[in-house]
Amino acid sequence: MKIKYLGHSAFLIQTSACNILIDPFIKDNPKCSITLNDLPKIDYIFVTHGHSDHLGDTAILAKKYNSTVVCNYEICLYLSKYNIKCHPMHIGGKVDLGFGKIKMTPALHGSSILEGTHIIYAGNPCGFLLELDKVKIYHAGDTGLTMDMKLLEYENIDIALLPIGGNFTMDVDDTLLAIDFIKPKLVVPMHYDTFDIIHQDPTRLKEKISSCQVKILNPNEEISC
Ligand code: NI
Ligand code: MN
Repeated sequence: MKIKYLGHSAFLIQTSACNILIDPFIKDNPKCSITLNDLPKIDYIFVTHGHSDHLGDTAILAKKYNSTVVCNYEICLYLSKYNIKCHPMHIGGKVDLGFGKIKMTPALHGSSILEGTHIIYAGNPCGFLLELDKVKIYHAGDTGLTMDMKLLEYENIDIALLPIGGNFTMDVDDTLLAIDFIKPKLVVPMHYDTFDIIHQDPTRLKEKISSCQVKILNPNEEISC
């Protein structure tokens, strides 16, 4: 399996069974160096919440590849107007989708979709636990530090993709506490430096953590596992 960082909170995961995107913010993502056409055929898209830097290019890609979008029920309702295939979930829910086991996890954040000047309610923000090819990945979405993360210790997470940018999410200091709660084997920082307001130094995370590995990925860089 390969996990490629596309910048911000966007990841391309290629398993033995399928190609998955999480929070596909590609076209307008200043940190993303690829175009939509550079992507392989996408089977599943996971969306953590309605904000444009996460919902991103979901509608265009799902239309192009007939992908299934896994997201909360409210975003499913929104996407249904584009005739997009959706799999609705809610926080705490688990499902086996054949290629892997999925659990929707809580996130402490907001969720809405802006269309023109109209703000559309987009349900609760979330994160995802994905068990793919026997590797357990946690994508936290956008979240502040929360005690709920203590429960994730029981999930035996291999790879945690955690926001560190601050202002809208945890910063490096809060992510250090989150890692203490979650106890993953490897952490990949995300959601930083895309915009000035979320500037943080990921190397500080690496210097301060000894309990697990920290892998700082540049956009378009991937890990194999
Ligand atoms: Ni957000
Ligand atoms: Mn965000």
